[in-house]
Amino acid sequence: MNKTIVVLGTQWGDEGKGKIVDFLTENSDFVVRYQGGNNAGHTLIVNKKKIVLHQIPSGIMHKKVISVIGNGTVISPTSLVKEIKMLEANNICCKDRVYISPNASLILNYHISMDLAREKRLNEIVIGTTGKGIGPAYEDKISRIGIKIYDLANLNVLKLKIKRVLNYYNYQLVNFYKEKSIDYKVIFNELAQSASFILSMVRNVPEILYKAIKDKKSIIFEGAQGTLLDVDHGTYPYVTSSNSTVGGVCTGTGVGPKHLDYILGVSKVYMTRVGLGPFLTEVFDEIDDYFFLKGNESGSTTGRRRRTGWLDIVLLRKAIKINSLTALCLTKLDVLDELKEIKICIDYKFSSINSSIRKEDFIFSQNTLENITPIYETLPGWNESTAGITNFKFLPILAKKYINRIQELIGIPIDIISTGPSRDETIVIRHPFKI
Ligand code: GDP
Ligand code: IMO
Ligand code: MG
Repeated sequence: MNKTIVVLGTQWGDEGKGKIVDFLTENSDFVVRYQGGNNAGHTLIVNKKKIVLHQIPSGIMHKKVISVIGNGTVISPTSLVKEIKMLEANNICCKDRVYISPNASLILNYHISMDLAREKRLNEIVIGTTGKGIGPAYEDKISRIGIKIYDLANLNVLKLKIKRVLNYYNYQLVNFYKEKSIDYKVIFNELAQSASFILSMVRNVPEILYKAIKDKKSIIFEGAQGTLLDVDHGTYPYVTSSNSTVGGVCTGTGVGPKHLDYILGVSKVYMTRVGLGPFLTEVFDEIDDYFFLKGNESGSTTGRRRRTGWLDIVLLRKAIKINSLTALCLTKLDVLDELKEIKICIDYKFSSINSSIRKEDFIFSQNTLENITPIYETLPGWNESTAGITNFKFLPILAKKYINRIQELIGIPIDIISTGPSRDETIVIRHPFKI
């Protein structure tokens, strides 16, 4: 059946969205990115080959699929061109298969310099960003001084715009951050070189997607980051600068909410976070080392070691509500294989919370975190390999019990379970395109 499906992260990113989008793309005509930029790192393993995508949607490995980059994204032209070259070098043809909205915003060198300068300055809030200039690029968009993809079509106007914005940034970089100023010519010349190539990919994205829906084509909307990194619903200020939750699909592509048929949340069976910010169920010592080694938990974009912790059902329930999830996909089940005991955080205990705040009105923020401890339920591990299993009935009984318990706690179906990084290491309980 033809459908529109959203695949988004329910945690702090790196849930395995890329693998799942690539797996589901077999049944899709379009895969669309709606927010974020090259802060994302989506890993696909197909025929033992590893490809990490940052800006190109994860459907590109399937020849007939069109990859669309929506207006809600921020695009680094330099990194986009590099990514396309990397794909072409791997025999993945991108010609006439990548469409870009003219309204997407550009990430330029001064955004990166500002991002890095802020992170270096100790008396500002250090977020632990990816250093890709995401925050400053989105700030420009909201301040209405951003440079858009369509600006590449008029190089004279582009030059003036860059000069004007750089005045503002160079003043801050030099006088406030004591960093080097940036010459507009460097930025302009680089853009001028790639302009016609990038413009060749420009399409009217809302019209194309509207027509696709009317023509009963299938579309996957691919989220970057995750619910807890959403600028409105995440653990602010330790978040990214876009709406990674489901609302971002509509604003970031121009497709209305009535046209979203099925929303799949992706969750690891444990949790990870790169960068700073609250993480209530974080583990340290040998369990952290176990997750790091067995789960290969190094960031796909920056190579940083990911912080690790137990699955937090309170946060998962929040992600289910905010995104109106149809179902959940659990990833990395195989990573739990050697654990004697597995913990799930089923609730929070509030110690001395301010009496004017009721528990149910609690906002997950850095301020209130100090007064909360997680309440855990402990389940027995199965001590057997689940790696590569493709049928639920072949899972160890204790693994089945673990999954069933999560399903009971969250109240929505678990439709997909991932048992390894490769496309085929996947258990499908209900196929999103076939129900
Ligand atoms: P994304 O940003 O959500 O697409 O996730 P990343 O690609 O950044 O990180 C997920 C990591 O887990 C990648 O290295 C994947 O290859 C890997 N992965 C995905 N699913 C599984 C799984 O079920 N088992 C194991 N062991 N690894 C997985
Ligand atoms: P994918 O799509 C994990 C984190 C950064 C930092 C915060 C803000 O691969 O899941 P930014 O550079 O966006 O201003 O950084 O967000 N972050 C991610 N963490 N996965 C990602 O993307 C991330 N993109 C940003 O580490 O904590
Ligand atoms: Mg990632």
